Amino acid sequence: MTSLRTSRAQPRDDRSWRPQSWRESPAAQQPQWPDQAAADAVLRRVGELPGLVAGWECADLGRALAGVAAGRGFVLQGGDCAETFGTLSAIGLHSRCRLLSSMAHTVTAGSGLPAVMIGRIAGQYAKPRSSATEDVGDAHLPSYRGDMINAAAPDPGARRPDPSRMLTAYFHSAAAMNGLRLRPAGEQPVYASHEALVLGYEEALARFDPELGSWTGTSAHLLWIGDRTRAPEGAHVRFLSGLANPVAVKVGPSASLGDVLALCAALDPDRTPGRLTLITRLGAPAVAAALPPLIRAVRAAGHPVVWVCDPMHGNTRRTKSGYKTRDVSVICAEIRGFFTAHRECGTHPGGVHLELAGEHVTECVGGCVNPVAEDKVPHAYQTACDPRLSPAQALECAAVVAAELNR
Ligand code: PEP
Ligand code: CO
Repeated sequence: MTSLRTSRAQPRDDRSWRPQSWRESPAAQQPQWPDQAAADAVLRRVGELPGLVAGWECADLGRALAGVAAGRGFVLQGGDCAETFGTLSAIGLHSRCRLLSSMAHTVTAGSGLPAVMIGRIAGQYAKPRSSATEDVGDAHLPSYRGDMINAAAPDPGARRPDPSRMLTAYFHSAAAMNGLRLRPAGEQPVYASHEALVLGYEEALARFDPELGSWTGTSAHLLWIGDRTRAPEGAHVRFLSGLANPVAVKVGPSASLGDVLALCAALDPDRTPGRLTLITRLGAPAVAAALPPLIRAVRAAGHPVVWVCDPMHGNTRRTKSGYKTRDVSVICAEIRGFFTAHRECGTHPGGVHLELAGEHVTECVGGCVNPVAEDKVPHAYQTACDPRLSPAQALECAAVVAAELNR
């Protein structure tokens, strides 16, 4: 462990941090706007508009996550892979929040632990992509990068990055955030989160909170860095390092122990419970061997992180007819492997991160109630990006969580 400790990057000097400091570091996956002056004008406008969340709300979530880090709660984070402007509706928000609540009830009834609900909602409008181009039917097109950047329609004009979409994303996020706030009195909050991918947009919504004496990323309560943009010396880490929000990082199979420790040092230099969530997405076959060394190294370095399992992104495959899908049995296998690893290490399995829909979609195969057969996948395949669990499939995952917490 000593060598791991010494390989840790030094914490950054926070006093030098500004919302624009990320511009000094390499920024992966940024949109290539055809007209930079137009993009700058949009971002100036976003910068004039009100923030979408308050610093004190983010601090509330931070306290809830500190409880989870200490073993006194469980995170249910979920929603669309990619939200779209056209599918934002009151009913859609309600059905996703209701599903998260039902999952929370299942987990709490089974384990006695309070659940912390966090939506991939109200800002999940930008997508990192592995390839600059993709094939849609017979067309070879620039990749869809989320409604904040371009449109999913399969024609080259729609795929051109359009900076005015950032303003549209802001207003849709504001409307959805308001929807999250309209929950019935007495119900637990659903916090908002998304991948902080487009750094110009996130910078425009970073606001100094004089009461807290710190900068808040006001685009969401919790912001995360994706597996493709988590370079410890990269711009995304630099940006999130200066925000007071609770933050998260996706950790995929290519992350080394050194990477993970460098991320912890950069994002949680003060070892604050609840400040940093590590969302592992290692794949069901790999989790048993890959997760325990990460847990032990992070614990040895003294970071009181929240460990969350994303059993979706390491387990994507294609059906014979070419649809991206995931098997519920494999998703549940990664969840069980995550719990086994934490039992082995004596640490708290803090939550799950799922892509789910409030409607009865047929994007993932399997499930014990009304299972989706592979040939039925095209019936209600509606996702703009990755395949989501249906409500029945998501509740099955919550039941697996409750059973594992009870062991
Ligand atoms: C996602 O959450 O949709 C995503 C792209 O995940 P990851 O960064 O883990 O690949
Ligand atoms: Co996804």
